[in-house]
Amino acid sequence: MTLETERLILRHFVEADADHLYTFACDPEVGTPCGWPAHRSVDETVWVINNVFTSDECYAICLKEDNRAIGVIELKRPGRSDLAKGDDEGELGFWLGKPFWGRGIMPEAANEVLRHAFTDLKLKRVWAGHAVYNDKSRRVQEKCGFVYQYTVKAHRCDLTGEVRDECANLLTRESWLERNDV
Ligand SMILES: CC(C)(COP(=O)(O)OP(=O)(O)OC[C@H]1O[C@@H](n2cnc3c(N)ncnc32)[C@H](O)[C@@H]1OP(=O)(O)O)[C@@H](O)C(=O)NCCC(=O)NCCS
Repeated sequence: MTLETERLILRHFVEADADHLYTFACDPEVGTPCGWPAHRSVDETVWVINNVFTSDECYAICLKEDNRAIGVIELKRPGRSDLAKGDDEGELGFWLGKPFWGRGIMPEAANEVLRHAFTDLKLKRVWAGHAVYNDKSRRVQEKCGFVYQYTVKAHRCDLTGEVRDECANLLTRESWLERNDV
């Protein structure tokens, strides 16, 4: 499925996205807060596209003007998520190439994926997490209406070995409907 917003196309990845995506994924400032090590080669990005970005609900974030992948947003379903447990739950995960930060791109992408989650997929609860120190992600989640629930102490990131406290935030279908006047 392809989703669309005013400025963005959210579409599935293809291997040809790797060259461009690598230029952002090689930055530790992008990967570390997400819990994965910076990519060391385009081949690693190809591998991730083919083996990690495989879900129907994983989208390349592209500006309409050139349709090139500049980030990722995934609505993770139970089994791929530490936070979403029930069949009617999901978890948002996302990152964006650093040159594009601060333009409201992720809130725009997230709001569209949330619309899709609550109206097309009829989910009841969407979670989102972030490291306690990740103010940028916290702000995106606040702007989309997520509400703080609890903190997981000393969460260990499998891929990086980093141990950090993680906040878990929730957006319910009712609260999304209310916020969007649906
Ligand atoms: C978190 C992230 C997706 C935000 O995306 P975005 O499209 O820049 O979101 P916004 O434009 O709404 O900016 C969010 C906040 O980031 C901060 N910010 C914006 N531009 C920034 C920049 N160039 N440098 C540092 N911080 C910046 C601001 O505090 C902003 O909040 P504000 O709107 O209240 O001022 C992006 O910073 C990112 O990919 N970070 C690394 C990966 C990551 O942390 N993913 C989430 C894991 S839980």
